[in-house]
Amino acid sequence: MAGSSATAPAAEPLPRSIFKKFLVMLCSLLMSLYVFYCLADRCQTLPGPIIAAGAASEEEEGGGGGYLGGSAELPPWQAAAARRKRLLQRLKQQQRRRRQEAAGAGPEMMPGAGGSRPGGSGGGSAAGTPGTLTSLLGEGSKRLPQAVIIGVKKGGTRALLEFLRVHPDVRAVGAEPHFFDRNYERGLAWYRDLMPRTLEGQITMEKTPSYFVTKEAPARISSMSKGTKLIVVVRDPVTRAISDYTQTLSKKPDIPTFESLTFKNRTTGLIDTSWSAIQIGIYAKHLENWLLYFPIGQILFVSGERLISDPAGELGRVQDFLGLKRIITDKHFYFNKTKGFPCLKKAEGSSKPHCLGKTKGRTHPDIDQEVVQRLRDFYRPFNMKFYQMTGQDFGWD
Ligand code: A3P
Repeated sequence: MAGSSATAPAAEPLPRSIFKKFLVMLCSLLMSLYVFYCLADRCQTLPGPIIAAGAASEEEEGGGGGYLGGSAELPPWQAAAARRKRLLQRLKQQQRRRRQEAAGAGPEMMPGAGGSRPGGSGGGSAAGTPGTLTSLLGEGSKRLPQAVIIGVKKGGTRALLEFLRVHPDVRAVGAEPHFFDRNYERGLAWYRDLMPRTLEGQITMEKTPSYFVTKEAPARISSMSKGTKLIVVVRDPVTRAISDYTQTLSKKPDIPTFESLTFKNRTTGLIDTSWSAIQIGIYAKHLENWLLYFPIGQILFVSGERLISDPAGELGRVQDFLGLKRIITDKHFYFNKTKGFPCLKKAEGSSKPHCLGKTKGRTHPDIDQEVVQRLRDFYRPFNMKFYQMTGQDFGWD
């Protein structure tokens, strides 16, 4: 009994130790499985080739696919070039969108491309226009103008330029560069540097009304490019002369009267053609000088009077001449009763209505009607000649 009681307790721990060993083995197996599972899972979530992560962010920036792994294989300068290309594409898309908006919109339109204004009148370009984006990104390039408003002083040149700038494919210098008359010795590189940056398909423009009466200007512009398109805004030479005088009077109130400056000799009625206010209005004479270098078809004559009575109509002709889509229409203008002139519903780079400044649309002094009539007689033959040369009757007589 004692022997059986001695063996019985010895047999009991055996299954317990086996059970313990089994438990330990099971635990290690489970732990190994867990570790293995974790490692396998982790491997799946790790990025594969590190470059792929970089490429993904490039895709976001570019906003266009198709170049995920490719950029990582590109050398840095090619990757940068590809980025620039995509930025340009984005700008062009924006420009297309804006063109569509401007074409279909009255109040909702987003007027035109930006323009650099090196000290010129008429405000600055606002952020958000392709022109401004172009400048900020340093995209596009500065080009010599393909079209120039060459005259005439007091014809309505500022109005034409401000209206044209609404077009997304026009970029213009705001200030008058006076390159072909006063600054020619500075060279074409200086001139080009004044220009705003443009994207392909955009036209670079400037206006300097004194070119029309500058003897050297036609040859100089032609030597820059024979293909330069020229625009002249002309206005009744008598009203133009009075407008010119009014401008001088506003700066120098002590000058003699218009009547006394008009005549060399009031008694004989001899007109003083050396007075610039009179001289500028002999359009036919100045035009002869331009026709020595440019065919008449390369010059567009805009009526200063119609630019006031029907700005959209005149802008239609200008857009056609420049090979632009007719985007600027009557939807872009309203007549401002206080100003007495057409104004833009929204100016370039702004959401507000915009009229020209106080120096445009001045009240003219009353001029002796006899003198006005004498001037009408004086200009008549020159006007007739001008109508003949241009094939347009401006209706001044
Ligand atoms: P006045 O001030 O004598 O009326 P320029 O810009 O070439 O100097 O021409 C100025 C002339 O542009 C003005 O002469 C004015 O008659 C004319 N003009 C044409 N459209 C105009 C507009 N929408 N607002 C103001 N002036 C305009």
